[in-house]
Amino acid sequence: MSTQADTGTIWWPAPAKLNLFLHITGRRADGYHDLQSLFQILDWGDELKFHINDTGQIDRINDIDAVPEAEDICIHAANLLKAHCCVEQGVSIELLKRIPLGAGLGGGSSDAATVLLALNELWSCGLSQQQLAELGLQLGADLPVFVHGHSAMAQGRGEKLQAVTLGQRYYLLIFPGINISTESVFRHPLLKRDSQVLDLSLTALQPGRNDCEIAAFEMYPELITIMQDLRKWGQPHMSGTGSTIFLQFSDKKSAIRATTELKCRYNVRPVGGVDRSPVLDTRLSARD
Ligand code: C5P
Repeated sequence: MSTQADTGTIWWPAPAKLNLFLHITGRRADGYHDLQSLFQILDWGDELKFHINDTGQIDRINDIDAVPEAEDICIHAANLLKAHCCVEQGVSIELLKRIPLGAGLGGGSSDAATVLLALNELWSCGLSQQQLAELGLQLGADLPVFVHGHSAMAQGRGEKLQAVTLGQRYYLLIFPGINISTESVFRHPLLKRDSQVLDLSLTALQPGRNDCEIAAFEMYPELITIMQDLRKWGQPHMSGTGSTIFLQFSDKKSAIRATTELKCRYNVRPVGGVDRSPVLDTRLSARD
C-alpha cells in the first residue's frame, strides 16, 4: 500500500491513443455526435506524479505554457473526484507532457483519466472503474476508454466500449505541428455526419475511414499535401479530429525504416500499439 511519504515517487503513465477509424453516425440533441470508432492504446504518452497533502490544496507543480493551471483538465479531474468523494486531502500534480496539444491523440483526456485512477487509489476513494469512467465522462467523451485502459470499439459519444485484442502493431506518428480544436471540427459544416451504423462485432479491426478528415483538411489544406506524400510509405490516416497522421506497420523493421526516411522532413515518432494500458499495471504496483 502506498503511503503519503512515497506517493510522489511513482510516475503514472497517461498513454496516447489512435482512432484507427472514426465514423460519425448522427448528431445528438445534447450537442454531441454519435460515433463508431476503434481506439488503439499506444505504448507512449505523458507521465504524471502525485504529491498528496493534508491541506486539501489542489495545484500543479510545473508550468505548461499552453495550458494555464486553471484550465488544466487534470486539475478539473482532481477537483471533481475530491468533491464527489468528499476527500479532505489535496494533491500537487507534476505533469510530464509529451503528447502534443490538439493532435487527436487524446493527451488531455488520458492525463485526466490517470488523475482519476491514481487519486482514487492514493486518496482511498474506493470507486470502481465504471464509476470513475462515468465521472470522467463529465470531463470529456474520450475519458472512459482511458479509465478502462483497453483498446476498444466505441459507440455513443465514445463511452460505450467493447474491449478488443489488436495484438502487436507498430505505427509511425507524423506530427504536422497544428493544434486543432476538436470542437471546431465537430461544428464544421462539411463534417460528414451520416455514416451508416455498422455491426461492430463484424467490423474489421483495421485502420479505415475517418469522417473528420474532410472538415480538418478544409481548415488545414497542408494536411492534404502530407497525406499525399505519405502514400509512398503506406496508407496514411488521421487520428481523431487531427492533426496527427499515422501509418500502420505489421513489423517493427518497416516502421523504423519509414522513420529513418521521413525524419528529416517531418516530426515523426515510431510507437507500438498495446491492448492493455500501462496505467492499469501502475495501479497494481502502486497498491502492492
Ligand atoms: O468531450 P470533449 O470535450 O472531448 O469534446 C469536445 C467537443 O467535441 C464537444 O464540445 C463537442 O462539440 C465535440 N464532440 C462531439 N461528439 C463527440 C465528441 C466530441 O460533437 N462524440
